Amino acid sequence: MHFKELMRSRYSVREYHENKVDQTLIKQVVNAGRLAPSAANKQPRRFVAIDNQEILNRLKPAYDRDWFSKVPNLIIAYGNHELSWKRSFDKKDHCDIDIAIALDHMTLIATELGLGTCWVCHFNPAIVKQVIPSPENWEPIAILAIGYPIEIKAPEKKRKDIYDILSFNKW
Ligand SMILES: Cc1cc2nc3c(=O)[nH]c(=O)nc-3n(C[C@H](O)[C@H](O)[C@H](O)COP(=O)(O)O)c2cc1C
Repeated sequence: MHFKELMRSRYSVREYHENKVDQTLIKQVVNAGRLAPSAANKQPRRFVAIDNQEILNRLKPAYDRDWFSKVPNLIIAYGNHELSWKRSFDKKDHCDIDIAIALDHMTLIATELGLGTCWVCHFNPAIVKQVIPSPENWEPIAILAIGYPIEIKAPEKKRKDIYDILSFNKW
């Protein structure tokens, strides 16, 4: 798919077919995240893909939404704040930015592969940590719902006008 078309086709899918996404496809999606840039190439990221129905059931309470309870696959994106690059001037931690870039790559390749995705950040991290025990220094930063969308066609994008977000040479 041409990149412009890809950007327009990706949208937050909240209704999926029941069938699971094959692990080879999940691997391709995460590989796009692996290829994404990160600050100082620290790559402070790790992904746990969930396709086991029992584990999915236990993760449902982490985000109490009807659509989320029916998602066939999840990818939990973890960031490591010890590994991530900090800006020398103010110690700004770039971990979340690195995770966001990886996930954006992943949502786009998923669209290309005919899959739908939806970012979820409004989850309860304590429940995620309880269901998937992970090392202390790896924070679950985002969950990507992923599966075959019921509706392929993207709804019209609701976005600010370009000149509401862009100016040249002055604020
Ligand atoms: C960082 C981030 C966090 C998000 N968290 C959630 C979430 O917790 N639940 C949800 O339903 N959608 C979530 N979304 C999806 C946004 O609501 C969605 O991207 C936005 O409304 C634009 O719609 P579109 O993705 O269809 O273009 C999140 C998106 C981003 C980028």
